[in-house]
Amino acid sequence: MNPPPLASREAVREQYFGAVWAEQLNDVFADVAPYYDRANYVASLGLWNWFLRRFMATVDVRPGQRVLDLCAGTNAIGIALLGREPALEVHAMDRSGAMQEVGQRRAAAKGMKIRSVIGDVHSLPFPDGHFDVVTLQYASRHLRIKRVAEEAFRVLKPGGRFHHCDMLRPANSVVETLYYAYLRACLAATGFLFRSGPQALNCKQYFIQALKLFYSAEELSMILRDVGYADVAAKTIFCGMIGFHRAVKPQPSRP
Ligand SMILES: C[S@@+](CC[C@H](N)C(=O)[O-])C[C@H]1O[C@@H](n2cnc3c(N)ncnc32)[C@H](O)[C@@H]1O
Repeated sequence: MNPPPLASREAVREQYFGAVWAEQLNDVFADVAPYYDRANYVASLGLWNWFLRRFMATVDVRPGQRVLDLCAGTNAIGIALLGREPALEVHAMDRSGAMQEVGQRRAAAKGMKIRSVIGDVHSLPFPDGHFDVVTLQYASRHLRIKRVAEEAFRVLKPGGRFHHCDMLRPANSVVETLYYAYLRACLAATGFLFRSGPQALNCKQYFIQALKLFYSAEELSMILRDVGYADVAAKTIFCGMIGFHRAVKPQPSRP
């Protein structure tokens, strides 16, 4: 499937996946929550924590800052940031109560406090200019990403940073083909090993299709600039398969 032009991509993604996003994904993550972290460790051949460290190395935080982690899942980001800087106020938002339950247990086991909000990240229940840093990891393929980037922009303080990490669509078609073959094998293996339920197994095709219609690193940078972010910088690893974006909400210009 060749992705449609950038200008219509969000509308096409919505048309293809809107029903899955609204009706199926929450059940998938309820099924996956108890083994989510272990399955990712296996699927990434043990590199999961290394990917996280690579992403976290692009995020700078200072004591007292307020951080919002969107689609926080099992709180990998909040725990990593608090491990580095305990004097942060960390908020986690996710639509899945099951994923956040696991995340809250993980944080509590480390004596960390993460404020949890259960809800849809397309509409953030926070005032304008509230956060120093907003993060989003491994969830954008399930989102109207432009809309979420706009919401993140709204709740950031001027000068605040949006940090994004996800599997992206590699720009090279050979890499892309190999990548999808690997992911198909991974989904089959983890489904078998962790005894995924029907909700997760039925969505195997969706996970690949969603990536095929997703953005390359450069395309995602263009979307972020279009939203209004400045100093948009992207790093990729594994031939563009995983990307880390950093984008700044500009200070208002003086009259
Ligand atoms: C693949 S997990 C990523 C979790 C975590 N960020 C991580 O890096 O491990 C995707 C998460 O996005 C959440 N999610 C998907 N769509 C959402 C939405 N519209 N609003 C809030 N959370 C959503 C799911 O519930 C799930 O916890």
